[in-house]
Amino acid sequence: MKAAPFSLRLLTLLSICLVILFSCDKPTPKDLNAEPLIPKPTAVIATGSSFGIKSSTGLYVSNETRAAGEFLAGMLNPATGFNLKPELTDAKVSRGILLSIISDSELGDEGYELNIDEKLLELSAQTEAGLIRGIQTIRQLLPPEIESDTQVEGPWEIASGTITDIPEFAYRGAMLDVARHFFSVSDVKQFIDYLAFFKMNALHLHLTDDQGWRIEIKSWPKLTTHGGSTQVGGGEGGFYTQEEYKEIVRYAAERHIMIIPEIDMPGHTNAALASYAELNCEGNARELYTGTKVGFSTFCTHKEITYTFIDDVIRELSAMTPGPYIHIGGDESHVTSLEDYIPFVNRVKGIVTAHGKSMIGWDEVAQADLDEQSVVQLWNSPDFARMAVSKGSKVIMSPAKRAYLDMQYDSTTQWGLHWAAYIEVDDGYNWDPELFAKGVDKESILGVESPLWSETVTNMDEIEYMIFPRLPGYSEIGCSGNDRNWEEYKTRLARLDARLEAMEINYYRSARVWGEDTRMQLVDNK
Ligand code: ACM
Repeated sequence: MKAAPFSLRLLTLLSICLVILFSCDKPTPKDLNAEPLIPKPTAVIATGSSFGIKSSTGLYVSNETRAAGEFLAGMLNPATGFNLKPELTDAKVSRGILLSIISDSELGDEGYELNIDEKLLELSAQTEAGLIRGIQTIRQLLPPEIESDTQVEGPWEIASGTITDIPEFAYRGAMLDVARHFFSVSDVKQFIDYLAFFKMNALHLHLTDDQGWRIEIKSWPKLTTHGGSTQVGGGEGGFYTQEEYKEIVRYAAERHIMIIPEIDMPGHTNAALASYAELNCEGNARELYTGTKVGFSTFCTHKEITYTFIDDVIRELSAMTPGPYIHIGGDESHVTSLEDYIPFVNRVKGIVTAHGKSMIGWDEVAQADLDEQSVVQLWNSPDFARMAVSKGSKVIMSPAKRAYLDMQYDSTTQWGLHWAAYIEVDDGYNWDPELFAKGVDKESILGVESPLWSETVTNMDEIEYMIFPRLPGYSEIGCSGNDRNWEEYKTRLARLDARLEAMEINYYRSARVWGEDTRMQLVDNK
């Protein structure tokens, strides 16, 4: 047979090459609107295509966005096996990933915009905090395998379109009680990572309680050497040295999460009262306490040494806490008379202010002389929250019966308590901070916080079980306000399971989210 002329063969070869080249590079169609992002962004416009991250993808930054670029590379490199590195550039970038600081007042302190097409993924914000939030969106838009610590096969494709995301409430937090049971620095960092994933911005650490004092105060060393030496059930307890606390603060700050340290007083103070006899009215040190009762301890509010002590504690704590707040507790002081309680809170508030911070207190502190700088955390009493608002203070919404992460899901839950309520996943989601306490409206609400008390929770597996899958819902309440719907949210939450599993998180597989026995059927059908 006669061979085809050379020009024809060349043409055929060329066409084959072109087909290969284009079929490999052809972006996969993807629907940005179908991505199960939590919290749901403010606005999404899908364009039906995708952006692929490859080993050759450029990651372009400016001086201002370099740290965010490092953070993004640190998120992408382990699972992809790529070695993406931020590259400084002033040039106009039309391919790759570009992180920019822009001026757009609508985006505020934490908002961001993502513009994704087949060639360019551009993340823009007014602040580094906004970029860090946007990086979590990029993470959530990638397949769950991106959570792997070791290399897995891609492709690493992100649906194209535009996302604008501006959180509704300024404060979106969670609390971890490290006093009833102590948790290590690495546990706290893991907890911070979970908050960061859902774009929360505050970690309230409940550092002291009857059962333990967990933060080193150099001028009162027995607080930790003695007061930190046990925990609920009599275990060995523990505490954070000041260097360890600063490391927690640094780690959180890298993720634009502020640490709010709480020193609970005048009640919930048995660990301090056991460490220093002079803090007791009768001058005798108390025994250490490893039970779970509340409301039996109080500082001696009439003694001057009490205020010298508090001034030392708040001074040392303020010096290592860059955030604007010190939480002074103030809850359940059942053995402090109101006549003693109010002047005590007033005086402590003055100490906090003198050290350059604003005071947060549980809702009972509303009975004291508050002002516009003070913040009251509603856990129990809408009346106290209204009282706080009437004094010009702002409110953080943490109603126990909706937002406490230590409340059991139902009567079969192995850990947690149920004195406020059983909180199934939908109960935790289906409430509106703006409607919870009549008279406490949007303007007075700083935000939402979900506290995890640790009377019954002793390790990270148990923490995870109590917070997942409720934590994402609290984040969405804080980000989206009342623009939410359980039925729609449920479909996104249901798809979080693969990611939770990729992250090796122990979670409660609620029938309200995943149905009664779909998992069993899947297994049976294999
Ligand atoms: C609290 O639950 N005692 C604030």
